[in-house]
Amino acid sequence: MKTTRINKKIADAGITSRRKADKLIEEGRVVVNGKKVTEPGLQVTDKDQVTVDGVLLTKEEPVHILYYKPAGEISAAEDDKKRDTVIDAFHDIDARLYPVGRLDYDTSGLLLVTNDGEFTQHMTHPKFEMKKTYRVKTDGILLRHQQDEMRRGIKLDDGLTAPCDLKVIRDKGGKDMILEITIHEGRNRQVRRMFEHFGLNVTKLTRIRFDFLTLDGLKEGEYRFLKPHEVKKLIASSNK
Ligand code: URA
Repeated sequence: MKTTRINKKIADAGITSRRKADKLIEEGRVVVNGKKVTEPGLQVTDKDQVTVDGVLLTKEEPVHILYYKPAGEISAAEDDKKRDTVIDAFHDIDARLYPVGRLDYDTSGLLLVTNDGEFTQHMTHPKFEMKKTYRVKTDGILLRHQQDEMRRGIKLDDGLTAPCDLKVIRDKGGKDMILEITIHEGRNRQVRRMFEHFGLNVTKLTRIRFDFLTLDGLKEGEYRFLKPHEVKKLIASSNK
């Protein structure tokens, strides 16, 4: 039978994060089959009865949400500086939700939100190469040969970028440009840094696609639940 580390079991039940679950264990508040847990690495199965403060754990139903994040929200469940987080939009949903990966504070667009750890792993781990498309407005022109360089891969501080798709959407030959870029990596501020490499600033950044999902039908700040077949299709894409 499949075993799970005790702190994950507590997190999956929606009680708290894995790190805070370790704290609960330390404080002697977690009991498995009638015995207080002393070992943080304890493995449990679905048959084990786990209680926290005397309350029996049950697994939280998985929730998968497609959110149109506005600029000006933090992609985190909590913020030390008490700024608005993407999770504030879901305070009436009774589940321990968190964003799948992150978009910068100033980036808008398609953000998945879930309480499903395995789904998150498939959507974010680099080995699954999930494709994300961004619409980018720049404060200058990316020349043809620079576009080709970007498509092939460029050297950033944290290494070479993988080949990407790049399309020019608007180039009026003036002082700005709109492009669409599709990448399957998810390094910190990657798109902004790819343009900075050529001396350009990104003045607007919106994620418009995540694999086959788009923002169709949603306005900024709105969300919808993913349908079960969409969740399955995303997992299937990640396994391709
Ligand atoms: N790339 C960035 O630079 N920022 C984001 O928010 C997402 C991708």
